[in-house]
Amino acid sequence: MTTHLTHLTYLTELRNAVDLVAPGLDALREPRYRISEIREADPLAADPLLAVLPAMNRDADVPALTVALRTLLPLPATVDRWSVVESLAAMRDLGMILGSLKRHGTEPLAVVPEALPVLEALGRRTDMVPRDTVHHYTTWNPIGARRRMYTGEEMEGNLQDAVRMVFPSLAASLDTCAALARLEPHDPGFALALDRTAQHVQSMVDSIDFTVANVSPVFFARVLRPYFEEIDVAGIDYLGPAAAQVPLWLVDLTLWQCDHSSPEYDRFLAESVQYSLPCWRDFYAAHRVGTSAVSKLSTAIDWENADRLSPRLAASAISLARVLRILKTFRARHIGIARKAYSEEVRLYEVGSGGAPIELLRSVLDLTRDNETLVRRATTRPRTPVASNA
Ligand code: HEM
Repeated sequence: MTTHLTHLTYLTELRNAVDLVAPGLDALREPRYRISEIREADPLAADPLLAVLPAMNRDADVPALTVALRTLLPLPATVDRWSVVESLAAMRDLGMILGSLKRHGTEPLAVVPEALPVLEALGRRTDMVPRDTVHHYTTWNPIGARRRMYTGEEMEGNLQDAVRMVFPSLAASLDTCAALARLEPHDPGFALALDRTAQHVQSMVDSIDFTVANVSPVFFARVLRPYFEEIDVAGIDYLGPAAAQVPLWLVDLTLWQCDHSSPEYDRFLAESVQYSLPCWRDFYAAHRVGTSAVSKLSTAIDWENADRLSPRLAASAISLARVLRILKTFRARHIGIARKAYSEEVRLYEVGSGGAPIELLRSVLDLTRDNETLVRRATTRPRTPVASNA
């Protein structure tokens, strides 16, 4: 019990720490990483209107939501003058109303068609899809009194915080995974890149533990999930800002996914990638066809004398198995809460807000586990260690 409480306290502290700063990211030149500036920005002067959004949603007040969307719309010429930071903040705020209208059964652009050129201009300006994404709804969302919420319920805030926690680590994993892709298992940097990646991926486990402790599956399924429905933008359906868009695939890609995947996961990724940041999409394009760390390691082990594994190769294998185990732990705990939220007696929708069924989670968990087993078997095969400086 004490251990459980200590762990919960740790997770709450972690959440608070991430609320204050996203370490290091703000200093980078990528405007999408300037999290505190984006949170601060209110280019549509939407603060007062969005403060009453939960009340409008509680009353299912579609006429008020429609007027709110119209009122917030900027002139297209104004959008052209905005920085990326301001444009991301504007999309975040319009997005809250788009999802709310759809939740009450109204296609937002059918009732406010003049929003279309604005969404398209914001999409172009930010080089992202022409609607809000999970990053707008969580990482770029202000904290404290200005926090944008559909319901104003504490559990909604907890889910937002769970996702906020992982953004800095996933952004950082881009560098360690790119380094990994350039290295071979005999290089000393291979295990190091994996160990750093493991530290980043641990945040996903913390995040799902925090979610399980602080968001009930019934609240998610019955109250929140309807706000994440897709909307029609000029004939194309764009998914809502759901956690399924959290790009854990950034880590999978170079570890195992690029050559050990399944058609379902490939399809899910091909759809999900568009909701991510431009530099992350570039990463996907650069690494989607390549040789994964799992394949490189298997080949290197096969090349070594069957009963000998050099210390360096053994270290690489142990580090790779460790990251895969952390990914597996996240996925095993995540599927637990997802199953409850999508059980027949609870769910309102058959598929997730990312457009995929629970079976997808099962198959990605199996793939992660299979890859971990492959690597672990290679390291545990009985061998004579070589006492060398290899
Ligand atoms: C009540 C909480 C949650 C439920 C019910 C849930 C449910 C689901 C479902 C059903 C999917 C399948 C794809 C789809 O939605 O179409 C999915 C995918 C995913 N979710 Fe969640 N989720 C929850 C919270 C989270 C959180 C907090 C995170 C991360 C911070 C997360 C990360 C992911 C990822 C990365 C995927 C893609 C599949 C994978 O990589 O394994 N989810 N989720």
